[in-house]
Amino acid sequence: MTNKTVHIENTSLNGTITVPGDKSISHRSIMFGSIAKGTTTVTGFLEGEDCLRTIEAFKQMGVKIERNGSNVKIESQGMDAWEEPQDILYMGNSGTTTRLLLGLLAGSNVHAVLSGDESIAKRPMKRVINPLREMNAQITGRQDGQFAPLAVKGSPLQAITYDMPVASAQVKSAILLAGLNAEGTTIVREQETTRDHTELMLKQFGVEIATKDKVISLAGGQKLTASHVEVPGDISSAAFFLVAGAIAENSEIVLENVGLNETRTGIIDVLQAMQADLTIEPYENEHAEKAGRVTIRTSQLQATTIDGEIIPRLIDEIPIIALLATQARGTTIIKDAEELKVKETNRIDAVVAELAKLGADIQATDDGMIINGPTRLSGASLKTYGDHRIGMMDAIASLVTTGPIELDDAACIAVSYPNFFEDLQGLIK
Ligand code: S3P
Repeated sequence: MTNKTVHIENTSLNGTITVPGDKSISHRSIMFGSIAKGTTTVTGFLEGEDCLRTIEAFKQMGVKIERNGSNVKIESQGMDAWEEPQDILYMGNSGTTTRLLLGLLAGSNVHAVLSGDESIAKRPMKRVINPLREMNAQITGRQDGQFAPLAVKGSPLQAITYDMPVASAQVKSAILLAGLNAEGTTIVREQETTRDHTELMLKQFGVEIATKDKVISLAGGQKLTASHVEVPGDISSAAFFLVAGAIAENSEIVLENVGLNETRTGIIDVLQAMQADLTIEPYENEHAEKAGRVTIRTSQLQATTIDGEIIPRLIDEIPIIALLATQARGTTIIKDAEELKVKETNRIDAVVAELAKLGADIQATDDGMIINGPTRLSGASLKTYGDHRIGMMDAIASLVTTGPIELDDAACIAVSYPNFFEDLQGLIK
């Protein structure tokens, strides 16, 4: 546990930052580079703890991976050459590593056991294991596979057509990755579009994958060709500074190389709906993933309603959006977001409990929250629940509290943003 006190009330934030690499894309770059025979190179890789777990897992299976800061080189003999790990694969806090690996390992030649921290042990795994079992995957775990530790024994798989009961890119990706090794064509039908990094990167690695009207299909038996991945900055990390710049006084923050994949830009739509003063300048490039410069300035904010199809496009940003809403005029309603209950922690309960300690007018609902603003907040001792995004929200709140914020455990922030406090400090002149 690392205590941290933040006291930045009445501070203006000015300057330019480049947020760290996208977490979702970084995970996938290691996975796909490990499947493909040959040498894959990655730039802009996120050196966060979650993504380092993914590297370690593949190293344990004999894939040669060298990392120099955010540059990574993966030399793989292909998936068929993966070795059986001699020890458990430790997932730490990473749901993405756990769920995507289950899909990949299901059709591999290896037997492996996946375990993680306290949070991973509570996260629902049946959502991936049910469709994988329909494909003939051999997976066991606590409560019939609902919870880690999980053991997976690679076996021949059959393709399925799967109607997604939840909006989850992790579930979609696990099925598609299993589908690569299945006999027949795997089809996933989504009710709502979720982040499509798996589909984009599979194409980049030479896989034929079709997407039409929320239906994704891929034929089994396709081989991946090693590639070069440029990871853009993580819009989910940028979100903390977009909100910071909007709520701090006399501020202007320029964020470079922010990933602008439309399946992830719900936070920008919300800032615009709340009348935030922001400018977006997309870069002209040919990369699989779009990126650009985003500038945010101190804003007069109006409340809004956030629901329906936008939710998967901003699911990880809801904690920081809740803080934003405490500074907006009117009632902000967030609904259709029950998935927040099964993130690193129950993020509805955590956000409402912590913002209420600061004096926010906030109320939990079954599938979201209702926030009235604007409210001047007061300092307090806050919990992070070991959840990086709650930790960063707690810290950014200090911009609008009278008195300091004390975080019980700031170490968890390194899961996705190891230099968060340095970047914040760098904007204070
Ligand atoms: C992720 C998908 C999302 C997101 C998580 C990363 C991914 O989870 O919350 O941080 O990389 O596919 P769900 O698939 O559970 O919605």
